Amino acid sequence: MRPSPHRLSAWRAHSWRRLYPCAVSDLIASAALRYAEQHTSPFGGSLGVAAAWTQDNTSAPQMMSALAEARLLEALIVVGGARHVLEIGTFTGVGALSMAAALPSGGTVTTLEVDPEIAAVARRHIDASPHGHRVELIVGDALDTIAGLEGPFDLVYMDAWKADYPAYYDAVAPKLAERGVIVADNLFRGGDALDSTAEDEGTVGIRKFATQVQLDVTVHNVLLTIGDGVMLAWRCPPGEH
Ligand SMILES: C[S@@+](CC[C@H](N)C(=O)[O-])C[C@H]1O[C@@H](n2cnc3c(N)ncnc32)[C@H](O)[C@@H]1O
Repeated sequence: MRPSPHRLSAWRAHSWRRLYPCAVSDLIASAALRYAEQHTSPFGGSLGVAAAWTQDNTSAPQMMSALAEARLLEALIVVGGARHVLEIGTFTGVGALSMAAALPSGGTVTTLEVDPEIAAVARRHIDASPHGHRVELIVGDALDTIAGLEGPFDLVYMDAWKADYPAYYDAVAPKLAERGVIVADNLFRGGDALDSTAEDEGTVGIRKFATQVQLDVTVHNVLLTIGDGVMLAWRCPPGEH
């Protein structure tokens, strides 16, 4: 079940660590991860401040987009010329702000967060950023909010309630621009997605989503072994169905 607002405090206190066991699983050799991080542009400026604040002040800093993933999102925006981005799951705003920085003038990030307390933190980080004017933060359950958004979006970043990934996919696919890309985080779920004995609702949702995308003949997709597993999906080129 998704968290209703009155259950949020308990959920926040007890569940984050269980729901998001780790951002970088032990599936990838730690020496390779260290080397990759040493050769990836570090966070700086107000984004660096937001990332450091998240690291020092939240009980589950691993929920924030890791450096490699944030830089991948930026690269996708630059390469694809994205102008309008939808992020599902804001947390403290690090992902939203790294994407906002990569957008051209007039570009927008619409970011959705269910938890009003963490949304207030994100808003502080957004207000402190020179790219904050590009970010619209909407507080509420993502599925309800998406229903009222028009799109089209050039990039959709799915990073919220794992059990809802199949529903997020159904909701955003019609709002994806012709040459848009969906980016979904936590496909490995710290290794649980690969463990057939793991049956919690988030892991089941993630596995269902991976299969759903794989079987969707209207898209091409790739599952990257970056961070906790990142799925990219985009419309099939014409004639490639
Ligand atoms: C992994 S964190 C997002 C990290 C963020 N994308 C970043 O780049 O730093 C997941 C966030 O999704 C939020 N969330 C969970 N369920 C949600 C829902 N149903 N609707 C909107 N947000 C939700 C959580 O409160 C949490 O802040």
